[in-house]
Amino acid sequence: MSIPSALQWFVDTGVVSEVVRIIKSGKESHIYLTKRFCEDRVFYFVAKVHTARTQRSFKGDKIYRAGWCLEGRVQRAVSRGTRYGRRVIGSLWVAQEFDALKKLWKSGANVPTPILRHDNVILMTYIGDPDQPAPKLCETPLNPGEALQAFNELVGNLRIFARLSLVHGDLSPFNILYSKGKIWIIDLPQAVDLNSNPNAVDLLYRDLQCVCKYFLKRGVACTPRDLFSQILDLPYVPSKTYQDLLMLAAESELATTYRR
Ligand SMILES: Nc1ncnc2c1ncn2[C@@H]1O[C@H](COP(=O)(O)OP(=O)(O)OP(=O)(O)O)[C@@H](O)[C@H]1O
Ligand SMILES: [Mg+2]
Repeated sequence: MSIPSALQWFVDTGVVSEVVRIIKSGKESHIYLTKRFCEDRVFYFVAKVHTARTQRSFKGDKIYRAGWCLEGRVQRAVSRGTRYGRRVIGSLWVAQEFDALKKLWKSGANVPTPILRHDNVILMTYIGDPDQPAPKLCETPLNPGEALQAFNELVGNLRIFARLSLVHGDLSPFNILYSKGKIWIIDLPQAVDLNSNPNAVDLLYRDLQCVCKYFLKRGVACTPRDLFSQILDLPYVPSKTYQDLLMLAAESELATTYRR
């Protein structure tokens, strides 16, 4: 196929040898399959081109951006919704996805390996066969045994997220790929920090509601509340921050100590 302008740099610098085809074109990103020839070997990468620089709905994004710490001039531009402000925010989403992928991959989570980021494009490993990307979890017919295995793998991964103080923020069977009996978590631009984002606890709970709904239908006994405690080692309380939950846990521990 002809080279999309967003990927020209990758071809010119030799990072990518060929753009094979578009996998998915959407409102927020275009996903391309690319090839890199290395001596007699071929590597397949995904190039995720973020298109959402100016299109994202600012209203809905506020809950994710709540923990962002922006420099004064940028913050003013963002608050006024200027072109510059929107451009900065756009590139922050991309940077955020790349950083989250890097941290998670380094900690052993099942995410595509992030290779590099240039402008609004992230290059990462491709999950799937050359002729077909791995299906989404929601498209995969799992038997109860496979479902339980995928669920346990997901819990292990979400504990890695929590150790890194990360919450996916848009987790669902649409953003989990399934390949050769293994899950792969993708699509992380909106990932939030548990410590700095006041909405992170509720976003985590919403993520867990979504995955429990899917796994319950496939015979895995789970509830979002149990899963929440399993992942954070703290009970869920709606509309609280992570610090609030830690404080509540400390208070109940102290109350027990004094009663003794
Ligand atoms: N690393 C990858 N390997 C294989 N396929 C991928 C990879 N990353 C993305 N895809 C494919 O592209 C689709 C969209 O990717 P992603 O969810 O990251 O982008 P998005 O802009 O959020 O799209 P959507 O709105 O569909 O969620 C995925 O559902 C998957 O089919
Ligand atoms: Mg997605």
